[in-house]
Amino acid sequence: MLCTEVDTVDRLALPRSGSLKITIIHLEPGDVWVHALRTRRLFYMTGLIPQDFIDDLIARADIVEVVGRRTQLKKAGREFKGCCPFHDEKTPSFTVSPGKGFYHCFGCGAHGTAIGFLMEFDHMSFVEAIESLANSMGVEVPRSESDQPARRYDELFSLMDTVARHWQSCLKESPKAVEYIKTRGIDGSTAKRFGIGYAPDGWSDLLDKFGKSEEATERLLATGLIIQKDNGKHYDRFRDRLMFPIRDARGRTIGFGGRTMGDGEPKYLNSPETVLFHKGRELYGLYEARQALRSIDRLVVVEGYMDTVALARHGIDFAVATLGTATTDEHLNRLFRLTENAYFAFDGDRAGRKAAWRALENALPQVREGRQIRFVFLPEGQDPDSFVNDAGADAFVKMMDAGLPLSEFLIQELSSQVDMETIDGRAKLAEMARPLVNKIPAGIYRELLIESLATAVGITSPKLEKMMAAGSSANERVPYSGAVTAKKRPRSMASGGPSVVRRALTLILNYPQAGRKLDIEKLAGVRRAGVDLLIALIETVQSEPNITTAGLLERWRHDEKGRHLGKLAAVDLPADDEFDPAAELDECLQQLAIAGRKERIEFLIEKQRLGGLSDDERSELRQRHQGHQDQGL
Ligand code: GTP
Ligand code: MN
Repeated sequence: MLCTEVDTVDRLALPRSGSLKITIIHLEPGDVWVHALRTRRLFYMTGLIPQDFIDDLIARADIVEVVGRRTQLKKAGREFKGCCPFHDEKTPSFTVSPGKGFYHCFGCGAHGTAIGFLMEFDHMSFVEAIESLANSMGVEVPRSESDQPARRYDELFSLMDTVARHWQSCLKESPKAVEYIKTRGIDGSTAKRFGIGYAPDGWSDLLDKFGKSEEATERLLATGLIIQKDNGKHYDRFRDRLMFPIRDARGRTIGFGGRTMGDGEPKYLNSPETVLFHKGRELYGLYEARQALRSIDRLVVVEGYMDTVALARHGIDFAVATLGTATTDEHLNRLFRLTENAYFAFDGDRAGRKAAWRALENALPQVREGRQIRFVFLPEGQDPDSFVNDAGADAFVKMMDAGLPLSEFLIQELSSQVDMETIDGRAKLAEMARPLVNKIPAGIYRELLIESLATAVGITSPKLEKMMAAGSSANERVPYSGAVTAKKRPRSMASGGPSVVRRALTLILNYPQAGRKLDIEKLAGVRRAGVDLLIALIETVQSEPNITTAGLLERWRHDEKGRHLGKLAAVDLPADDEFDPAAELDECLQQLAIAGRKERIEFLIEKQRLGGLSDDERSELRQRHQGHQDQGL
C-alpha cells in the first residue's frame, strides 16, 4: 500500500522538500486523500479540489435548505429547529444554525456541516457530497486534472459487482459448494439475499476472466482480488472458498470474506484494506438488514458472517457482524444512528467475556438515556449460528431479551474481581469503576449507574460520587484480569489549564470573526495540549477573514487533531449583549501566557535545583523572576 501512496504523492508532483508533512487518509469507500499539512490542501488521488473552493462552497451553501429538503425545519430565533433525522424523536431537539453553517442534535449528538450532513444522511462519500452540493448550487468542481478519479472509483465498484455475480454463478455450478451451504443450513433464497458465491479452485480464474489488459489487472490489484508476487506476476487471492460479499450502506460490494470449506488455513480470508474497504467501519449485514426491515427497532452485533446469515435464515433480520475486529467507535455511531436498542452477542467462554468487556468500554461514551445496550452470552461452546439452528429463532430472541444491561454487566464484572465481603474490596470496586463512569456523558443514565454501584458497594451515592471524585489518579487502570487498561485522563488545572484552551477553541469556532485581532505572539512558548491547534485556528481566521464555523470544521475534517472540534462548535454560548467573544478570547490568551511563563520559571527552578542551568538559562530565570514580580504575581 505504501508504494502506491508514495507513488500518488509523486504523481501529484508535490514539493517534498523542507518540513512539508503529508498524510495519506482513507475516509470513505472510494476516497483516498493526500493531505499536505503545510499548505492545508487536500489532494484527491490524481485529481485535486482546491481548499479555497471547499471554503467558498461551504460559506455559500445554505445549510437550512440542504437539511430542510430531508427534514422539516421551523424558524426559532436566529436558528431553525426540527425533529432529528438521525434518530427517532417526537419533540424537536435538532438545531440548524445558518450563521455557523452547522447542525446539531441535542438528543443524539449528531452534528456537522452541509457536507457532513450529505455524507451522514445520504451516505455520500466526501467527494460525492462536494459534488452534490456544488451541483445544487450550479457550480462546477474544479480539478487540476481530468475527472479521472471519479471514473476510476466507478470502475472499481463495478468490477467488485461483476466478480460477486461471477462467483454467485460459480456456486450454482459447484456441487461441492452447494452441498456445503446445505450442511450449514443456508437455503437458496438466503444465499441469494446475501449474494453468497463460490470462488473456484485454481490460481488464475479471475485473472484470466477479468485481467486481460494491464489496466484491468491494475484494478484487480487495487481491489485486493489478486496478489502480486515479487517477480511481478499475479495470482488470485480467493481460491476454493465460499464467498461473502461485504456491502456498504448503499449496497455496493466493497470487499469479500471467504471461508474455506475444508480444514484449510486460514478459516476465513478477508479482503485487505483497500481504497473501497475499511474493516473498522463496516458492519456485515447492515445493508441487508435495512433492505429487509421497514424500520429497525433493534440490532444485534454478532462475531461472524455465518452468524448473521444463519440468523437471517431463521427470520432474524437484524443481526450484523463486525469483520474480525473489535467494535469500534465508528461501528457504534452507525448502530445508534439507526436504533436505540443495541445487543452484543458473544460466546460464553472467557474470550467472549473479554471481547464483551472491550465492547463495553468502547460503548460507554455513547450511553445515554433512552438507549438500551445489552450483552448476550451464549451457552458454552455455541455461537449464534449453532444456537439458532439448534434451538430456533424464538429461543434466540428470548435469550437476547434476557441479556445483561450494560450497567449490570459492568457491576458484575467488577464485583467478580474483588472480594465484596471486605471494605477494601468494595473500595477497590469504587476505584475501578471511576474511570469507566467518567467515560459516560453526564446525565440521568450516569446518575442511575452511580446509584446501582453505590448499592453494590453498600454506601450512599453522594458518598460514592465523592469517593470517585477524590480517588487518586495514580491508579487509573481497570484490569480485566490484567488485560484491559483505561486511558489516563488529563486533569484540569486551576488556571491556564486544558479548560482554558477548550474555552478558547470553543469561542473561536463559534465566533471566528472574534479572533481577527488576537495577538498570537502571546502563545509563543506555551506548551499545552491543544495550543498548537488553537494557534492554527487563529492563523486561519486571520488569513481568511470571512471563514465560518463550518468552514473551519471542514478545514480540519481530515486532521486527527481536529477530531473534537465538532463537539466544541456545538456548545451553546450565551448570546446576550454583555457577551464579548473577542474580549473573552483575549482573556484566555492572557491566562495561557501567564500560566506558560509560570511553568517556564518552575521548569528552570527545578533544573537549577538539579544543578543543570546553562548561563543563558540562568539569566533567563533572573529576568523572568523580575518580570513575574513586576506583574504582582
Ligand atoms: P464458522 O466456523 O463458519 O461457523 O465461522 P464462525 O463465525 O463461527 O467463526 P469464528 O467464531 O471462528 O470467527 C468469527 C469471525 O472472525 C469470522 O466471521 C471472521 O470474520 C473472523 N475470523 C475467523 N477466523 C478467521 C481467520 O482465520 N482469519 C481471519 N482474517 N478472520 C477470521
Ligand atoms: Mn460458527
